[in-house]
Amino acid sequence: MEKKVTKAIFPVAGLGTRFLPATKSVPKEIMTLVDRPLIQYAIDEARAAGIEEFIFVTARGKSALEDYFDHSPELERKLKDGGKDELLAELHHTYMDSGQIAYIRQHQALGLGHAVWCARRLVGDEPFAVILPDDVIAADTPCLQQMVEAFAETGGSVVAAMEVAPEKTSSYGILDVEDTAGSTLRVRGMVEKPKAGTAPSNLAVIGRYILSPRVMTQLNEKKEGAGGEIQLTDAIAREIDDGQKVHGFRFNGQRFDCGSKAGFLQATVAFGMARPDLRDELMDFMSDVISIQAAAE
Ligand code: UTP
Repeated sequence: MEKKVTKAIFPVAGLGTRFLPATKSVPKEIMTLVDRPLIQYAIDEARAAGIEEFIFVTARGKSALEDYFDHSPELERKLKDGGKDELLAELHHTYMDSGQIAYIRQHQALGLGHAVWCARRLVGDEPFAVILPDDVIAADTPCLQQMVEAFAETGGSVVAAMEVAPEKTSSYGILDVEDTAGSTLRVRGMVEKPKAGTAPSNLAVIGRYILSPRVMTQLNEKKEGAGGEIQLTDAIAREIDDGQKVHGFRFNGQRFDCGSKAGFLQATVAFGMARPDLRDELMDFMSDVISIQAAAE
């Protein structure tokens, strides 16, 4: 029987260059979809999957993230005095219990694999989840919960996967799978950002992982991969070469790449439309914009 997954790593130490100049002072993970920062969506998903310990790998300039999870007595008093119970509940939802959250520094942005390795002592000898908050997934059953259920059956490691257009494969970690039928696919190889025309499939790894602690031993080697970075994909690929079991998991849900501007805008519209209090106004606005554009063309 596999151990329960109760720890999750949130690597948030990247430089976020695609969102400059905003990310000069605002961590990407604090940017909001409607009224919640990206990190809140990630935490909610982790909680729904049974995660109890939240490990943030942070960096210089990310203190807004630590503040976000802190208690705010002044705000709380004001909302209580004003009888604003709904907002108060929202505020409480952002709180984390003392000891539930840990922050580790990645002193240099050496890559996602290195960021995960920075948390090795906190993870110990248990399988753990990794969530990249800039991949936001809208789903009836939260994506990580779906993966925890798949992991209970397969053991080993499980990575979230989805099909991407062939011309996009060079932007992702790509899976080489034994069989493409079904939602849980045995992986026989993985390659980070394959050159055009060399991808083993068009199944891309998305920012959700459940990993065996053995992967930390691979990351210890600090081998540089694509872009001169220490890649998580490469460490998982070496695990497969060593005979370890890895599965790709085709999740149910819609993924938004909120690390890119287009993806972030699409997510803003989709999450706005999903909110009953905003939907009608947003729809009216969008149809106006579309008709004005059409008339101008
Ligand atoms: P990205 O590839 O999106 O990089 O990282 P980035 O720095 O966040 O953004 P751009 O590309 O410069 O715009 C994917 C995830 O890995 C984390 C990031 O914080 C993000 O969650 N990461 C990446 C680290 O924690 N450390 C690193 O050294 C690199």
